[in-house]
Amino acid sequence: MDFPRYLAAKKTVDERAINKEVWQALRDHLPPAPVIIEVGAGIGTMVERLVEQGFIWQGRYTAVDHHPANIAMARQRLAHLPPALRLELVADDLFAFARRTDGRNRWDVLIAHAVLDLLDIPSALPVLFSLLKPGGLFYFSLNFDGATILEPAIDPAFDALVQQLYHRTMDERVVGGRPSGDSRSGRHLFTQLKNQGADIVAVGSSDWVVWARHGCYPADEAYFLHFIINTMHKALQGHTELDTTQFDQWIAQRHAQIERGELVYIAHQLDFLGRIPSTETAVAK
Ligand SMILES: C[S@@+](CC[C@H](N)C(=O)[O-])C[C@H]1O[C@@H](n2cnc3c(N)ncnc32)[C@H](O)[C@@H]1O
Repeated sequence: MDFPRYLAAKKTVDERAINKEVWQALRDHLPPAPVIIEVGAGIGTMVERLVEQGFIWQGRYTAVDHHPANIAMARQRLAHLPPALRLELVADDLFAFARRTDGRNRWDVLIAHAVLDLLDIPSALPVLFSLLKPGGLFYFSLNFDGATILEPAIDPAFDALVQQLYHRTMDERVVGGRPSGDSRSGRHLFTQLKNQGADIVAVGSSDWVVWARHGCYPADEAYFLHFIINTMHKALQGHTELDTTQFDQWIAQRHAQIERGELVYIAHQLDFLGRIPSTETAVAK
């Protein structure tokens, strides 16, 4: 399956999910002509959204993602941004990028959308915050928080086991030798942000809720669902605690439910808006 297409299909799902109160608070706190950095920016749907909804039309926007295919797609999608908004697209690992900038390039606003739950947040936050100016604003949205719901049930006990093992793969994920993930990142952010001296301005839930209207999923959301089920399949294939035949059948049944427009998918997530301290010393390095 194609990751950039998944991210494009995710846009309408995200549109419904994004917490509207936190989103409005972001608008209220944005400086004029902001200098924004987004990490894990994917194919650029967040900058599109900010422009489409009139949040930004001038300033500078740096979008970093380590997958060159995402950045290539972003280059195509974002060819027609307002001329007063300078766009910089960077295909790089966010940690390598932060090391290279080494505090010389400080942004007003930091965005991470559907990204933090892929990282080891306690060690990532100081690096991410080093990108911001003192007192800078952060918007961390769609942080997964411990609930994957698939309806209708196939076998409630087996469904629960799959959910539990799937979440465990997030907690045990290691990327490039570093722990990378947290299946309860949303709730943990309250303490982790506090530990960094950050001030939380607004928080709200941003659950993905995907369902078919009269048997049809909107836009490309059937693809989004197939991608999610495929991700679960890849994450748990060959897992010693799952009967292989039963799991393969379960995956096939989930795909078939999508084809019939029956599957309802809910993922619990939280959005955060906040500020880092305005004095340099208060932010742990
Ligand atoms: C779930 S996707 C979300 C993408 C985008 N924010 C969106 O919502 O459409 C997570 C993104 O983070 C990127 N990513 C993950 N770890 C990264 C890292 N260490 N450096 C840069 N990008 C990273 C991935 O390439 C991927 O595009």
